[in-house]
Amino acid sequence: MTHRVGIIGGDGIGPEVTEIALAVIDAVGVSLETTDYDLGGRRYLSTGEVLPDEVLDEIRGFDAVLLGAVGTPDVPPGVIERGLLLRLRFELDLYVNLRPFLAGPSILNNGVDMLVVRENTEGTYAGEGGFLRKGTPNEVATQGSVNTRMGVERCVRYAFGLANDRPAKRLTLVHKTNVLTFAGDLWERAFNEVATEFPEVTTGYDHIDAACIHFVQRPEKYDVIVTDNLFGDILTDLGGAVSGGIGRAASANLNPARTGPSLFEPVHGSAPDIAGKGIADPRAAVISASMMLDFLGEEVAAERIRAAIAASDLATGGTKEIGAAIIAAL
Ligand code: IPM
Ligand code: MN
Repeated sequence: MTHRVGIIGGDGIGPEVTEIALAVIDAVGVSLETTDYDLGGRRYLSTGEVLPDEVLDEIRGFDAVLLGAVGTPDVPPGVIERGLLLRLRFELDLYVNLRPFLAGPSILNNGVDMLVVRENTEGTYAGEGGFLRKGTPNEVATQGSVNTRMGVERCVRYAFGLANDRPAKRLTLVHKTNVLTFAGDLWERAFNEVATEFPEVTTGYDHIDAACIHFVQRPEKYDVIVTDNLFGDILTDLGGAVSGGIGRAASANLNPARTGPSLFEPVHGSAPDIAGKGIADPRAAVISASMMLDFLGEEVAAERIRAAIAASDLATGGTKEIGAAIIAAL
């Protein structure tokens, strides 16, 4: 079966790592019908377009979207992030951002084996807020956090389902309920109520600041974690750092209801400082691609890719060499 996938290589190292991800998928024998989209900072600088409506509508028709990285330093902050990436997350209702972390190189076996479920359509990312008296000494800027019962509950329920399917069956809610007493209260109530549907899952709670310490000092305490959009953003960069580096951190932006395509992308950005040098680690993109195969029902191929990454764990060299080592291990 051929899967129809939209490809957004994007900016910086994005196209370089996406090329390797596609080569690995090809090597594992899964057939894709791909359509390339030139989107990102470069495209914006040349045409002024971020995500034309027709392109968005076309993307809705795919089985999945594979994205490299978007953003260039010469575009003001937010233009591409909000206009392209977040717009895709919101418009396609990709309400779960799933980010797995597994002890990285064989030399670093610190017991990390965790899955972060980051809420992906609400919180501070919803864009609520604005300016008052902008540019004056009395300027005011507000930035709200949107937490709907529906949005929190569906994300929490997804996380419980994942935890229930894992051997350890542990789910930790991470928030800041002692300060964010409104949003935190809603999250806590939703979490506790959904917990009654999953009696076999052991639950826990950590404040986000404490979770940062535990991520570094005893990550083995975590199995599945569920958290809000911004906490999840920050915590998953740390997750990358404690599991072999951000170059291995993968993510799946999922629409579990499957009302449209899900989107798969590395956690890392476009890394303009190393773009074009051929030294970006393609593993984050390759693991993201394996998550895409899982979601497309190609679990055997996905597992083979992850086994090949583990087997070529100590491979060194540039983007192409690591890609070749993964393919050789297949
Ligand atoms: C991520 C990225 C994005 C985010 C940016 C590029 C908008 O940092 O996927 O973690 O903040 O979600
Ligand atoms: Mn991030």
